[in-house]
Amino acid sequence: MPSTADYSEKIPNNVSLHEDRRLQRALESWQPNFLNWWQTMGPTLPTQDVYLRTAVNVGRDGWAQFGHVAMPEYRWGIFLAERDPGRRIGFGEHKGEPVWDKVPGEYRAELQRLIVIQGDTEPASVEQQRNLGATAPSLYDLRNLFQVNVEEGRHLWAMVYLLHAHFGREGREEAEELLHRNSGSLDAPRILGAFNEETPDWLSFFMFTYFTDRDGKYQLGTLKESAFDALSRTCEFMLKEEAHHMMVGTTGVDRVVQRTVEVMRSRDTDDVAGLGAIPLPVIQKYLNFHYSVSLDLFGGETSTNVANYYTAGLKGRWMEDRRKDDHKLTSDAIMVDALSEDANGEQSIGQTEVSALVGLNTDLRREYISDCQGGVKRWNRILEEAGVKQRLKLPHVAFNRKVGAFAGIEATPDGEKIPAGEWERRQGEWLPTEVDKTYVRSLMQPVHQRGKIAAWIAPPRNGINGQPFDYDYVHLA
Ligand SMILES: [Fe+2]
Ligand SMILES: [Fe+2]
Repeated sequence: MPSTADYSEKIPNNVSLHEDRRLQRALESWQPNFLNWWQTMGPTLPTQDVYLRTAVNVGRDGWAQFGHVAMPEYRWGIFLAERDPGRRIGFGEHKGEPVWDKVPGEYRAELQRLIVIQGDTEPASVEQQRNLGATAPSLYDLRNLFQVNVEEGRHLWAMVYLLHAHFGREGREEAEELLHRNSGSLDAPRILGAFNEETPDWLSFFMFTYFTDRDGKYQLGTLKESAFDALSRTCEFMLKEEAHHMMVGTTGVDRVVQRTVEVMRSRDTDDVAGLGAIPLPVIQKYLNFHYSVSLDLFGGETSTNVANYYTAGLKGRWMEDRRKDDHKLTSDAIMVDALSEDANGEQSIGQTEVSALVGLNTDLRREYISDCQGGVKRWNRILEEAGVKQRLKLPHVAFNRKVGAFAGIEATPDGEKIPAGEWERRQGEWLPTEVDKTYVRSLMQPVHQRGKIAAWIAPPRNGINGQPFDYDYVHLA
């Protein structure tokens, strides 16, 4: 299989699509529906062209090309990472057997479901972010937004390819549905809660790309381990693109924090609202919100479905091959978060032991949480270097949860269980209030001139692909 894409075809691909006319025709008939979705649900800001990278190769070096592209003419393609001919299943009851080129009948429904859920998040985020272009703080940021958007569109293609190629008529129907559900729609919403929340401002966008896109990274990491080889190779390549999305979030929050401390220091005040910067407590509240809704995406602390997926070889653990155990987990245990109850029926936040297989969601959520700590550390280093005493932190896992063990209780960011009435009174201390959101939105005045940037955010340290910050990243229409 060639690793370089064939760009002479209608749908660029490295899967020798021309050898399977039926599949090629099916995907070519889905293509105009995708483009129609992009035009109606994609970015609303009119542009002539955008400096974008396009994947052209799955190899280690030079996998992408950069150039100014009119977005509707972006070459969304289908790329699988290179095949490892000797690859064997790394975990579960089929451990050691050769990986599957075809979907085994007994796992068909589960695999299709996993692919549909992953696929549903990709276009959802494009929909959530569609109006952000109008308030971009710079052309550099605008370009990054569009890069993330076109690549989430390509990730939709990645999942649709699998549905078309391996799941027959049902797969094709699911591919259609991926374009018909819409983020926030009352009749046909996206499958997962966090993907129906709006992304109304750029602080939300950076928090989303840091926290929520990072959930995607972890889900893809588990699917990359799959015994179904095409799914594994698809996800491996998607992870390469995700790295940039993570960078946009990480450095986006860096730059907001940077600007805030600059204003705090130059005016010698913590109260930067009204001075054109975003106060640290507001940044903390946005962080609290995006982190807690992203934790929900990992599902309940325990799940027999996920245990079965693991045993079957459909979905592994993060960095499965680095784990030092038998990769079957049939006799292992794990402590998971839980509500405990004392003799008087009084509930408290605690932990309980369950079988490792049933606790796999918790394992993945913990990997994610420790990764999230990395960002907080970075942002706190900026505060420390500026000589500011405040610090940001991740709230407790029980805070603001709608899924899992803590869905039925309320807790402070410090993990203290509180009565519902107190939560009602005090949640504005911890989550963005209407006043906070209105203030942040008031700062979102577009800066669409080359080399200029909005006052609430610091410029980036580096441009894209070696270009300077004041490069003409986007030509508006
Ligand atoms: Fe994605
Ligand atoms: Fe992403």
